[in-house]
Amino acid sequence: MKKKVFLTRSIFPEAIERLLQFAEIEVWSENCPPPVEVLIQKAAEVDGMLTMLTDPINANVIHIGKQNHLKVISQMAVGFDNIDVPSATSAGIPVGNTPGVLTETTADLAWALLMAAARRVVEGNNEVHQGIWRPWGPDVMCGRDVYGATLGLIGFGRIGQAMAARAKGFNMKVLYTQRHRDLDAEKKLGANFVTLIDLLQQSDFISLHAYLSPETKGMIGASQFEEMKPGVILINTARGAMIDQEALYQNLLAGRVAAAGLDVSDPEPISKDSPLLSLPNVVITPHIGSASIQTRKRMAMMTVGNIEAGLTGNPLPYCVNPEAYSNRK
Ligand code: DGY
Repeated sequence: MKKKVFLTRSIFPEAIERLLQFAEIEVWSENCPPPVEVLIQKAAEVDGMLTMLTDPINANVIHIGKQNHLKVISQMAVGFDNIDVPSATSAGIPVGNTPGVLTETTADLAWALLMAAARRVVEGNNEVHQGIWRPWGPDVMCGRDVYGATLGLIGFGRIGQAMAARAKGFNMKVLYTQRHRDLDAEKKLGANFVTLIDLLQQSDFISLHAYLSPETKGMIGASQFEEMKPGVILINTARGAMIDQEALYQNLLAGRVAAAGLDVSDPEPISKDSPLLSLPNVVITPHIGSASIQTRKRMAMMTVGNIEAGLTGNPLPYCVNPEAYSNRK
């Protein structure tokens, strides 16, 4: 008998076809994530769960899965902060993700936000659409130069490094901070390892590329904004909760932060009443960093590959908690 898999969203037909070769599937057909009650119910019924970053896979979901026959959780994202990984690990349930395939696509979007925020592309576009094309003037819609500026990368993994590679073409000085130095990448990309404080004080552009964790949650708050260069531009394509949204708003309002390019917020979707949306110097997109057709297809296929391995008792090709295997009965 085929194993059962619950998909919290419909994915590309090619990926569904492959899944159907080895599993019986049930797909949540709505356009919003299933509520946690549904996730708990499904965890009790299936062998595998194919999840999205919007699904709260908490300790209760995992506990019910463990009490039944849940063998694998495969997330269609590189980030997995919505999943209680320590609970999955102690339950012996491997969790898969999709690293690597979305690197360049996400860096492209981060770069697009950086350019748009620096050169006020969306503000200019909006004015023109509203019938306000101000005559050319020396101070009309002046933004900031990207070429030759200093870019500070918080997180220097795959996506951070892809940003550094783009920055090279703009003759930028690249600073990065993270827990460990990466000498090879530094050499290859001409980046300099600095402390967070130095990065905040020296960067004209700051872009976040770290995982959300207890350590990075709220890491950019009022005191970090105080350290930043006046006129800095902040880009976030990682997770909204890494930045204190109120502190960001206050600093944008005061002009200390010249502009922000955000693909993520906390919560998501952002409330339509969020004060951030009242500011012209905020360029915001709805968490579309990895959203190209090619990349999303690759992510879907990787997710299915992880499910297949998990259902057949093989190690997941992309596993965030390989320690889970030693907790299996
Ligand atoms: C991820 O994969 O974690 C991105 O945020 C969305 O693709």
